[in-house]
Amino acid sequence: MTIRVGVIGAGNIGTAHALNLARVVSGSAVSVVHDADIGRATGLATEVGARVVGSAAEVFAADDVDAVLIASPDGAHAEQLLHGLGLGKPILCEKPLAVTEADARAVLDAEVASGRRLVQLGFMRRFDPGYLQLKAELTDDGIGDPLLVHHIHRNTRAPYGLVTEQLLTNMVVHEFDVNRWLLEDEYASVMVLTGKPGPHTPAGQHDPVLVVLQSVGGVLVEIEAFAQAQYGYEVVCRVTGSQGQAVMGDGSFVTRSKAFSRGVDLPELWLGRFAEAYRLQLQGWVDALRTDGPLPGASVWDGYAAAVVVGCAIGAYRTGQRVDVGLPARPALYDPAP
Ligand SMILES: NC(=O)c1ccc[n+]([C@@H]2O[C@H](COP(=O)([O-])OP(=O)(O)OC[C@H]3O[C@@H](n4cnc5c(N)ncnc54)[C@H](O)[C@@H]3O)[C@@H](O)[C@H]2O)c1
Repeated sequence: MTIRVGVIGAGNIGTAHALNLARVVSGSAVSVVHDADIGRATGLATEVGARVVGSAAEVFAADDVDAVLIASPDGAHAEQLLHGLGLGKPILCEKPLAVTEADARAVLDAEVASGRRLVQLGFMRRFDPGYLQLKAELTDDGIGDPLLVHHIHRNTRAPYGLVTEQLLTNMVVHEFDVNRWLLEDEYASVMVLTGKPGPHTPAGQHDPVLVVLQSVGGVLVEIEAFAQAQYGYEVVCRVTGSQGQAVMGDGSFVTRSKAFSRGVDLPELWLGRFAEAYRLQLQGWVDALRTDGPLPGASVWDGYAAAVVVGCAIGAYRTGQRVDVGLPARPALYDPAP
C-alpha cells in the first residue's frame, strides 16, 4: 500500500519533504501539491509527478490524497490544521503548531473533540541520531540525573527576516520541544536576557538572546539563540548530570586535518544538519500510516506545550521579568501508550 501525500507549501522544507516522500521514503508518493505561489507548486509537482491544486482545502478534499503534509509559513498552520482535522485525514504539520497559545489551544481542542490523534508535528530533532544518543545517556548507567542543560542554536541568516519574538516562536521553539522530550519534564519558569546586538540585527530587535528556564523538576536550562550568526548553522546540546556530562553537536561532522589545521565543515542551513532526522521522521510517519500504528513523533499536545512556553517567553522578553509557566492538565488522548 502506498500512502499518497498531498503537500501544502512548496518552499524550502516542503520541497525537501516532498522529494524525500517521492524518492527516498518507502511506501509513499506525492500526488497533489498546493502553494500560494502557483509557479512553485508547478515546479515541485513536475519534479515529483504530482498534480497542482489551487487551495489547501482542495488538497484535503482530494480523492487521491491519503495524508497531508503542511509546510506553509508558521502563521498558516493553525487554520489549515483546523480545516483538515474536520475531514479526518492524517496530517504531518511542520513546527510550530501555531504562532499563539490561543491558536494552539484551538487546534488541541479540535483534535481532542475528534477523539483520535491525526496530527504529527514536525519537531524532527526527536528523530535525530545525535539527540537519540544523547537521550540514551540520561540513565543511571550513563551520566545519571540531569541537572543542567545548555543548548546552542545558530542560524547563518534569519530565514524570514529578524524579529526577536519570531526568533522565539520559530527557532527557539525547537529547543523548547526537544528539551521537554530529553528531560521528560515540563517548564516552571522562563526568562529572556538580551545583550549587545550583532552587526546584522535590525534596530529595535535583539539577536542573540539567552533564554533561561527552570523545569518543574528543578533542572536549569539555558538556550543561546543567534539567528544571524553568519558563520554557519550549528546546534549543540550539553547535558550535565549527577555522574557526568554528555555533549551532542561537536561530533556530528567529520574532522578534517589539512594544511596545518584541523576542523569541521558546518552546513549553511538546517537541511544539511538534520537531513537524516527529516528522512527518519517521514519514514516513521509513513510506516505508522501503512500499519495503522501509533504516530511516532511529537503530538498536538507537545505543540501546545511548546506554544505555552513560547507565549511565556514572549511575555518575559517584553517585560524583562521572569515568568511562571503553567500547563493545564494533559487530555487523556495524549496519555502514553500502556
Ligand atoms: N522542522 C524544521 O527544521 C523546519 C525547517 C524549516 C522550516 N520549517 C517550517 O516549515 C514551514 C515552511 O518553512 P520554509 O522554510 O519552507 O518557508 P518558505 O518561505 O521557503 O516556504 C513557504 C511556502 O509556503 C507558501 N505559502 C505561503 N502562504 C501559504 C498558504 N497560506 N498556503 C500554502 N502555501 C503558502 C509560500 O509561497 C512558500 O512557497 C514553516 O512553518 C517553518 O517554521 C521547519
